[in-house]
Amino acid sequence: MIVGSISENKNLEKRVAVTPDIIKKYKSLGLEICLSKNYAIHLGISDDEYKAQGATISENNEVIENSDVIIQMSIPDSEHLSKLKKDQILVGVLNPYTNEDILKKIISKNIKCFSLELLPRITRAQSMDILSSQANLAGYKAVIDAFAYFQRAIPMMMTAAGTISAAKVLVVGAGVAGLQAIATAKRMGAIVFATDVRMASKEQVESLGGKFLTVEGSENLETEGGYAKEASDDFKKKQEELLKETLKKIDIIVCTALIPGKKAPIIIKKDMIDVMKSGSVIYDLAASQGGNSELTQVNEVVDNNGVKIMGDSNILNKLPVSASNLYSKNMFNFISNLYDIEKKSFEINLEDEIIEKTIVK
Ligand code: NAI
Repeated sequence: MIVGSISENKNLEKRVAVTPDIIKKYKSLGLEICLSKNYAIHLGISDDEYKAQGATISENNEVIENSDVIIQMSIPDSEHLSKLKKDQILVGVLNPYTNEDILKKIISKNIKCFSLELLPRITRAQSMDILSSQANLAGYKAVIDAFAYFQRAIPMMMTAAGTISAAKVLVVGAGVAGLQAIATAKRMGAIVFATDVRMASKEQVESLGGKFLTVEGSENLETEGGYAKEASDDFKKKQEELLKETLKKIDIIVCTALIPGKKAPIIIKKDMIDVMKSGSVIYDLAASQGGNSELTQVNEVVDNNGVKIMGDSNILNKLPVSASNLYSKNMFNFISNLYDIEKKSFEINLEDEIIEKTIVK
C-alpha cells in the first residue's frame, strides 16, 4: 500500500505532513511513502533526504494517481481534489465546516475523508492529537513574538546602574496553548497571571508558577469533555471588572481563549486596552477565530495609544519545522491505527471511536 503526500500551497501553509524521520516507521508497517518533487525544500529538507529514508519522489499528479492514502496538512486545491479516485482515502486538517460542499462532492465519489481536528480528546488518541501538538507550539511562539515586540527586558535585573523590574504577563485562557505560554513566559523571568472560565485550570496554572485570577462563577463553565462553555452575561461582567483592574499593571497579554465550534469570545474590550500602559503588547492567538481582543486585525499590528495588538492567521508558519515534526508523528499514529497490518489493508472500523469521530460524513 502506498501513502502519498503532495506539496501544500506554500503561500498559505509551510507545514508538511511527512518529515524524513517518520518514513522508517511507515516502512516498518509495510507502507511505502510517495512525495511530490521539492516537497519540503522550503524547510531546508531536500528530496535526497527523503529518498535516503526510502521515499519515492514524483510529480503531484503521479503521487495522487499511485497512492492508496493521501496525507496532507490542509485540504488540497480543487484541481488536485478532482484527481482523487474511488476508494482512495484523504487525511488532513480538512476544515469540514468551512469546506462542507467540496467535501460532500468528494465523499459522493466514494472517497473516504478523515479530518484530524475532529479527533476525540481521549487517552488513546493523545499521540494523534494535532490540536494539542500545534497549540503547544503556538503558545510558545506567541510569547516569543510578543516579547520580541516589547521594548523592555522581561526578567528582573539588579545591576550597578539600577534595577529593571520583571515584565507582567497575563495569559487569557489556560488550555494547551495557554499553559505553554505560561511556562515559556515564566522561564524567561516574567511574572505571570492567568485566567480561564474552567476552575480545573487553576491548579495547572499554579503548578507552573502562575497566579490564577478567579472570576466568581467559574466552577459551572466546563463541559463534560473538559472544554469551556459560553459564559453568561453576568459572568462576563464580573470577568470584565476583574480584568480592567488587573490590566493597569500588565505589560503583555497573550490571548488563547476559544469555545469549540463558536467564534472566539471577546474578552479584552477597547476600554480595557485604553487603561493599559503605552508600550504594552497584546498577542491574540484567537485572531483567526475572530480574536479575544476587540481591536485585533488578522496579520496586522494595531496601535491603540501605544499599545500594540497583534495576531497571525497561522502562527505555526513561523516554526514550520517543529510543527511538521510533531504533526507528522500525529499523522503516522493515526494512519497506523487505520491500517490492518495482518490484512495489509486500510480498515474503516466505525466501532473505533477515533475512526468514527474523524470520518467526514
Ligand atoms: P481551547 O483551545 O478550546 O480553549 C483554550 C482555553 O480557553 C480553554 O482552557 C478554555 O477554557 C478557555 N476559555 C474559553 N472561553 C474563555 C473565556 N471567556 N475566558 C477565559 N478563558 C476562556 O482548549 P484546549 O486548549 O484545546 O483544551 C481544552 C481542554 O481539553 C483542557 O481541559 C485540556 O486539558 C483538555 N485536553 C484533553 C486532552 C486529552 O485528554 N487527550 C488533550 C488536550 C486537551
